[in-house]
Formats: sequence, structure tokens, C-alpha cells
Amino acid sequence: MAPAAALRRPAAAAAARLPAMPARCLSSSTTTESSLVARAPHRLPTIKQKPLSFEENVALRNEHLPSSLRCHYENTVRPPCPEPPSVSFVNIDQLGSSPAAVARTQAAGPLKLKTGSGQFLYDDLGNQYLDCVNNVCHVGHCHPRVVQAAASQLGMRARTVWFFAHASWLAKPQGDWVAVNTNSRYLHDNIVRLAKEVTAEMPDPLNIAFFVNSGTEATELALRLARNHAQRRLVYCIDGAYHGNSAAALAVSPYNKYSNLECSDNDSQKLLMPETYRSGLSEAEISAKAAAEYEAHLSTGGLPAAFIAESVMCCGGQVFLPEQYLQTMTAKTRACGGLTIADEVQTGFGRVGDHFWAFESLGVVPDIVTLGKPFGNGFPLSAVITSRAVAESSNVRQTPPELCYLSVCLPVRAQCTYA
Ligand SMILES: Cc1ncc(COP(=O)(O)O)c(C=O)c1O
Repeated sequence: MAPAAALRRPAAAAAARLPAMPARCLSSSTTTESSLVARAPHRLPTIKQKPLSFEENVALRNEHLPSSLRCHYENTVRPPCPEPPSVSFVNIDQLGSSPAAVARTQAAGPLKLKTGSGQFLYDDLGNQYLDCVNNVCHVGHCHPRVVQAAASQLGMRARTVWFFAHASWLAKPQGDWVAVNTNSRYLHDNIVRLAKEVTAEMPDPLNIAFFVNSGTEATELALRLARNHAQRRLVYCIDGAYHGNSAAALAVSPYNKYSNLECSDNDSQKLLMPETYRSGLSEAEISAKAAAEYEAHLSTGGLPAAFIAESVMCCGGQVFLPEQYLQTMTAKTRACGGLTIADEVQTGFGRVGDHFWAFESLGVVPDIVTLGKPFGNGFPLSAVITSRAVAESSNVRQTPPELCYLSVCLPVRAQCTYA
């Protein structure tokens, strides 16, 4: 093992002793002569930040975060925590131990979360909550395999190799190369493997994957692909739908929590929500009504680039689409040269129970599928899956847009998916 002193050697001194490495210049505009010289790896600082008190946190939040960012569970009355809960994955020894925390055990107020484990969350007082809201950590909070996958891909093993195995910073890491924070511009095994595995779960011809960072970005890209492909702008969406919070995604998201100016985009048109509970109609009746409304729009010249739908409507009230509805809307869309986009951001990866993708239960194969939330097991990772024909139709335009968003840190996030 390297002597402790070696670990404290200042980076500048170590760098001075390093030979010049024949580094390849990946960006001629920003790389200087000195940045081509091999350097000692940066040492990570120990995280020594003192936790903020509840009051300090609220004060900073009020001062620096927008008031539109609302705290959920604002009026929660938190019971005293009789004894620290037993948690298998994380160390919560420190929870609830400070005098301030003890004084606040009866207090009401928003939750200040400290940690999570499996299906549970824990606040700063040590109270345990069953997390029925989480829609990202597919296999629970802090799953050890996900934590391990992220940590090792982020460079833990590489650091170990750099610091300990060779007892010298001059040695190249061997065996355990890790690529941190690369984007999809470079080759990395995790990226292509993930593309292969996720498209293997899709029906033909959906075998091309674009990786992006959020459900919103997946919607953005899906809309761009469809619009490029159809060479039209108009996208039909369903009333009450939610597809993301960028301008383009909001324009197809009439979900009333967010619908204001952005939803009145000229490039989108909302259609009747095909639900039976509030309408009082049967599945057949509401489907026929929705189809007739769509037909009326199509026949007056509103030809679609796409029809976008959540395979199960989530924010809009967990609405399961009636049988035949999606098949009818898909047929009408395709007859006019439009594409269908299935939003599986909430419903993908087995969340509907009987199928891996919710659209599979609806008897359709969409042209474009968007994935998100649970994909990275808690890490932000999303994707757009489509056919090669749709993916590449954009390339035939005079100036092909760069559709492959340069999604960063993909190797790490892909590793979390494998975990
Ligand atoms: C169906 C659906 N699509 C897209 C999104 C947007 O995803 P993100 O919040 O990752 O941008 C959401 C978010 O809740 C969603 O529910």
C-alpha cells in the first residue's frame, strides 16, 4: 500500500515529475500544451459539510429557490420517533440525535428527508415513511447493487488502482479502466450494450435507441423526430396528458396543473380524454366519440406529424385507455402519414404488471416510444426508441439536425440500469 504521505503529496509536485503523455487531442479549440501533460488524478475532497438545521434549510430555501417550487407535505405532523428504525442498507446512526431534532419531534412542517432504503424514506428526526410516491428508484431507495454500480463506475475502483495498486501516480491504471462522464460522442461498452438490451425488449422494428436525460427531453426528441419525419408541425395529444415541462412538451401536455399559456401552442391540438368514469360513457361510446372528434380535425386539414399518448394516462388520473381506442387512433394517424408516440416514461419497465411496456396490452406497435423515470434506477436516464427508418429520415434533410443529444455520464447511468 502507498505510504500515507504519498496520498498527501500536492498535485503540482506530482505533476512536475510526470512524463509527457502522448495524449490525443479531443478538442483542439480548448486543449493547451500544458493540458496534454499527464497529471496526477484529482483527489476527492472528504465531504465535511455539516447538515443544516431544519430552520436553516427553510431559510435558504426561501431566499434562493423560487416560490413556485412548492414543498409537499407542508403540514405533516411528525410523531416523535421512539427508537431508530432498523435499516438494512444504510447507516442511520446519526438520525434524530441532535438536541434541535429532539425539540422538533412534535413539529409540523415539510419533510426534511435524510435517507432512504428500499421502500422507506427517513426524515431528519428518524421517522420512517412508506414511500408511495417515488416513481424513479425502480428497485427501491439506495439499493446496494445500484449504489455499488454507480460508485464503481464513477471511479472508485480506478482510484483504488491509481493510489494503492501501483504505489505511484506515474503508473497508468490497469485492468479497471473506467470512463467517467463521457457522453454519447465516444465509444463505450455500456452505451451500446444498453441500447442492445433495451431494444431487445421492444417489438420490431423498434431497434434504435437515443439516450437522453429526462422524460421531458425524450418527449422533445420524439416530437422532433416525428416532425422531421412527417415534415409537418401539428401534434395531437389527449386532454389531461402530461409529457414533460419544456416548452414543446408542455404544448402537448394539457394536464391542468401545468396548462397555461404554453399549452396553447399552435402546433398542437388536444383531443377528448377517453375515460369512462367522469364522462359516464361506456368504453365503446367514449372511444367512438374520441375517434369522431379526431376524424373531424383530420378532415378539415389538420394533418398530423404525430399522435402522442401515455400508454396509461398517469397525471390525468390513472386512466386506462379503452380497448380498441389506441388501435383506432393509430390507424387514423398513419392513414394521414403521421407517427404514433407512446409515452412509457411512467409505465415502462414492467410497471403495469403483466407487460414490460404498457402499449403491449393495447394491441399496437407505436412508431416512437419514450422511456424515463425508472430507467436508471434512480439516476436520470431516459431514451427514445424508434425504427431506423424514423431515426434516419431526419438525416436526408439538407442540414441534418444533431438528434443524438450528447447525453452525459452515460456509462455511469447505464451501469445503474444493469445493476
Ligand atoms: C408520462 C410522463 N411523461 C413525461 C414526463 C416527464 O418526465 P421528467 O420529469 O423526467 O422530465 C413525466 C413526468 O412525470 C410523465 O409522467
